[in-house]
Amino acid sequence: MERLLVPGGGRTYPVLVGTGLLDELGAILAREGISGRMAVFADEAVYALFGERMRKALPEASFATVPAGEAAKTIREAERLWGILAEGGFGRRDVAISVGGGATSDLVGFVAATYHRGMPVVHVPTTLLSQVDASVGGKTAIDHPLAKNLVGAFHAPHLVVADLDTLGTLPARERWCGLAEVVKAALIADADLVALLEERLEALAQGEAVLLEPVVARAIRIKAEVVAADEFDHGRRQVLNFGHTLGHALETATGFDRLRHGEAVVLGMRAAVHLSRRLGRLDSKEAERVLALLTRFPLPDVVLPSPEAVLCASRRDKKGAGAFVTIGPIGEARVEVVEDALLFDALETLYEGAANR
Ligand SMILES: NC(=O)c1ccc[n+]([C@@H]2O[C@H](COP(=O)([O-])OP(=O)(O)OC[C@H]3O[C@@H](n4cnc5c(N)ncnc54)[C@H](O)[C@@H]3O)[C@@H](O)[C@H]2O)c1
Ligand SMILES: [Zn+2]
Repeated sequence: MERLLVPGGGRTYPVLVGTGLLDELGAILAREGISGRMAVFADEAVYALFGERMRKALPEASFATVPAGEAAKTIREAERLWGILAEGGFGRRDVAISVGGGATSDLVGFVAATYHRGMPVVHVPTTLLSQVDASVGGKTAIDHPLAKNLVGAFHAPHLVVADLDTLGTLPARERWCGLAEVVKAALIADADLVALLEERLEALAQGEAVLLEPVVARAIRIKAEVVAADEFDHGRRQVLNFGHTLGHALETATGFDRLRHGEAVVLGMRAAVHLSRRLGRLDSKEAERVLALLTRFPLPDVVLPSPEAVLCASRRDKKGAGAFVTIGPIGEARVEVVEDALLFDALETLYEGAANR
């Protein structure tokens, strides 16, 4: 097991990465000094898989489920959870525990941030994406009909328990999406991790815990370091958006139902590599190397919207305000202002090379 200490919320919190952690949850919480009454909120699909084991591990805790995936991130669900906490007599020193993917940790984190102006939250992420990304860093949010993640709060967890065994039941497509964020982390900050991913990408996508443990831990360390430098997202944290400006725009322009977030980010990273080469940040050899890695990701057969439509969506996106993340050399990133014309060219180059246009 790896135990990382992540700064956030004016303290540091442990992130545990390993196997067999779910069944040890009660002992882990005690060992980490987390006490108080526990209210567990689990993604209903995840609860069906692991609920019984979790009840055994946390016999005193109260349990409730939330809708699977993104459907949980609504004000209605938040209100329902505030109600469960209030009816159960939970106070601000008690503990909310999220079990599920990033959607669950975003909702439960938001509820914990606001209930009694803030109660401790522990995340038990069960998707690769939430283990390496969503559960670490303290951002929480629910969606609004006008925009995803529109309403939220910064609320660092007290503990994150990432049990790699839970990834065994995750659909392969979801594991690839998590790997996209791992590749992103490597490309912006860790050239050695890029090399490791080049060697083992497909094997990692199989979800084998022994292979994943060091990789997940390194990706978390990268996110933690970036967040530590800029917890409240004033500048440096933007490098985590590598591949996301155009990725988000592609998600929006395809209506959020044809491309998973990670798949859109893979395409966004490919376009960002073209742009990084064009700006002279990456030399051609490096660019080809990164593109070779990114084209190993399986993508659904989707007709991609025109560059015009993507740029239009990007302008509406709050993350698209002129700031763009480029990489180069591999393992280093910067945020720079990039004109739309260059984004347009990068999309065209992406489409020329894309088999799935
Ligand atoms: N707060 C942040 O910093 C941050 C960062 C990245 C993403 N996010 C948010 O995270 C969300 C995406 O998270 P996600 O990719 O984890 O998806 P998700 O939470 O929507 O889960 C995806 C699907 O996997 C299922 N699932 C979860 N664990 C499983 C398991 N072990 N076995 C089988 N099925 C399982 C869920 O039921 C769901 O249907 C988005 O809402 C995004 O906005 C937040
Ligand atoms: Zn992402």
